[in-house]
Amino acid sequence: MLQKHGQKTNTPKVQYRTEMLKQKIKDKTVVVAVLGLGHVGYPMSSLFAKNGFQTIGYDISSKRLSDINQGKVISELTSILPNDETHKQKTLSEIANNLKISNKEEILKSADVFVVDVPTPLKENETPNLLFLTKTCKTITKFLRKETLVIVESTIYPGATEEIVKPLLEESGLHAGDDFYLSFSPERIDPGNKKWSLEKIPKIVGGINKESVDVASSLFSQIVEKVVPVSSLQVAEATKMLENIFRSVNIALVNDLSKFFEKMGIDTWETVAAASTKPFGFLPHYPGPGVGGHCIPKDPFYLLYKARKMGTNLEFIEEAACINRNMPLYVVHIAEETLNTCNKNVRESSFAVLGVTYKKDVLDIRRTPSKTVITELRKVSKNVMAFDPLTDETFGAKTGSLEETIKGKDCIILLVNHSYFRENSIEDKINELAPNCCLIDTRNFIDSSKLKKSIIYRCLGKPLKSG
Ligand SMILES: NC(=O)c1ccc[n+]([C@@H]2O[C@H](COP(=O)([O-])OP(=O)(O)OC[C@H]3O[C@@H](n4cnc5c(N)ncnc54)[C@H](O)[C@@H]3O)[C@@H](O)[C@H]2O)c1
Repeated sequence: MLQKHGQKTNTPKVQYRTEMLKQKIKDKTVVVAVLGLGHVGYPMSSLFAKNGFQTIGYDISSKRLSDINQGKVISELTSILPNDETHKQKTLSEIANNLKISNKEEILKSADVFVVDVPTPLKENETPNLLFLTKTCKTITKFLRKETLVIVESTIYPGATEEIVKPLLEESGLHAGDDFYLSFSPERIDPGNKKWSLEKIPKIVGGINKESVDVASSLFSQIVEKVVPVSSLQVAEATKMLENIFRSVNIALVNDLSKFFEKMGIDTWETVAAASTKPFGFLPHYPGPGVGGHCIPKDPFYLLYKARKMGTNLEFIEEAACINRNMPLYVVHIAEETLNTCNKNVRESSFAVLGVTYKKDVLDIRRTPSKTVITELRKVSKNVMAFDPLTDETFGAKTGSLEETIKGKDCIILLVNHSYFRENSIEDKINELAPNCCLIDTRNFIDSSKLKKSIIYRCLGKPLKSG
């Protein structure tokens, strides 16, 4: 591991204290508190509990706590639960034994480790909203003791742990690095991804000093297969920015190319598949209706904010975010264009939107591109229905069963490739219930060879005439 310049060499006394805490972590006699039990914090706290740590889950939302208690959000634990039913039940009962959840902050009294997993969204003006983070720091400050460890996992821009988190925690009268350990370790969970379970995703660990990195690394090595220590808090923070901006710009690249390839009569999906046969230097990304969720659409704006404050413009990153943000409008545009080819007017047409969440098989509607698509369609048509098997949210569109939503529509737009649509033979349903529709497929999901000839099929990233 590289050492950051300027780090202090610690005395034998400090080294002894660090070793003591590491031993307690190894013996699993530390109490771990996770603050924020959302899409990240709930699986994370459950993973500590699954591995035998006495775990405290603290969340200010009583609705969230009640959903967890009633087992309503067990699907969010996919990335840590075994597949077979017997093992799954056993793991769930281990988690229930070790995880205590509450919205009363006194529960944090016994914590030796504080893991911060609260939201870091954007304000209206696209700058970081760090209110959840600062409030959480103030809560921790009340319960911070000597020889405790604070780990921030929420996504923030490089420098924020030191500039924002550290001074707030030090209001306790304790000093970061000397009295308590301070680490930043970005969460890299991919909700719904069964292949890359939380245990299998390597954990990046940065710290205010070497001891903080050591202690946090010891903790994570008890629950994940691989820990990657880095030389500073800033490198750990920047790693998360790089990963998500890498996704944002590559998605933007393929989205931009797909619009041009459509015009040239080139199939983008086939082109990406062909490029993917290159055994090195290429990573496939696919066109889509835009990006959503609590990472890709907002993380670039965290770095852009920091860059602007430092007098730098990261135009390339900004442009990429903008391209992705405009994709829902492009989807509406191609729907209109396709309707025009069959002499239908968008204002007199009826629409069905299939899929509202931002991602396949994941119940998360934050920043979903479906919201923009539905809103734009509702501006021009009075007859817009939407259906999603995972959520009742339709952003003002009427809803019904899948069949009711499809029935008799002039234009059907598939925005999310939920397994449910495959399981319910979506092509057969469309053939039967909307045999004269225009069908816009934004995910290359529909098997167009199964469609009736009367249906005008258009796939994002494919030329109009291609089926
Ligand atoms: N969702 C993802 O896929 C993902 C992946 C990697 C990293 N992240 C990052 O992880 C962080 C958390 O994201 P999330 O998706 O879990 O958010 P979330 O909105 O799903 O959950 C956050 C939880 O924190 C709670 N909370 C808010 N303020 C609190 C406070 N003061 N004290 C205690 N609890 C509080 C909320 O009630 C909510 O239950 C964000 O910084 C996000 O960028 C998210």
